Amino acid sequence: MLESLMQPNLVFVFSSRSFPGDVVGMSDVQIPLVEVSNLRFRWLRKGTDILSIENLTVQKGERLFVKGNSGSGKTTLLNIIAGIITPQNGSVKILDETISSMSSWKRDGFRAQHIGIVFQIFNLIPYLSLVDNVILPCHFSAPRRKRALERSSTLIEEASRLLEHLGLDINNLADQPVSRLSVGQQQRVAVARALMGGPELVIADEPTSALDANARSAFLKLLFREVEDSNASLIFVSHDASLEPYFERSIHLDKINHTGPRAT
Ligand SMILES: Nc1ncnc2c1ncn2[C@@H]1O[C@H](COP(=O)(O)OP(=O)(O)OP(=O)(O)O)[C@@H](O)[C@H]1O
Ligand SMILES: [Mg+2]
Repeated sequence: MLESLMQPNLVFVFSSRSFPGDVVGMSDVQIPLVEVSNLRFRWLRKGTDILSIENLTVQKGERLFVKGNSGSGKTTLLNIIAGIITPQNGSVKILDETISSMSSWKRDGFRAQHIGIVFQIFNLIPYLSLVDNVILPCHFSAPRRKRALERSSTLIEEASRLLEHLGLDINNLADQPVSRLSVGQQQRVAVARALMGGPELVIADEPTSALDANARSAFLKLLFREVEDSNASLIFVSHDASLEPYFERSIHLDKINHTGPRAT
């Protein structure tokens, strides 16, 4: 499945939450990576809006935690930010490019190049091996291929590095089609695929739902390290409130979405 260059803005950020024991980095210049403005979206032409968001900005390198009730529109919002669907009103800018007004063909190319996505339903290619699933984005984006090859000498090596990093026993699982993996293992393959070739934006929809508490915290630490290494921004949707403190910022969708009931 298919799945830059910014104007600096002179604000400084001093907050960087981390795992206990981690060294907290110095301040970074804040540069907007994702800018959602005056967004309105409804699934059915004659239906009611399910999203109405005046403004949502995600900074370069920022880790944003998004929570919200089931059915409140989190996955829909991620799909809009990823350019999989387009809003009826408003704009979505990523890396200063307005993806919401691009043709679908251009959006597909933009997404392949700049965005790594972990879908709520993983969307792995069932008959491909773990490694081939992870390499997939590099077939659609020359820059991601180039960046992957800057980190490892072959794409297979880089995919294996990421999979091992995420705790998968690549020696024993390498030749298995992903359909034979457990849900937790598939989830980690989906994350490795999203990280492959260091996209500027990583979007993850409930990526830890199938992991136990220990695996979850190890997984998050590794995910953060990979995201930090490529200075990517991370938008992470989860119902698991215990993960929230690890993020620099957290938002409740119902608080920024002015269609439904407000969160308390
Ligand atoms: N393809 C679709 N066509 C029509 N309506 C849809 C579609 N996908 C989602 N919806 C509706 O949009 C609303 C928001 O759905 P969405 O999947 O974004 O919620 P969510 O916050 O991600 O929920 P969850 O936490 O359960 O994953 C729901 O009312 C859902 O029924
Ligand atoms: Mg969802």
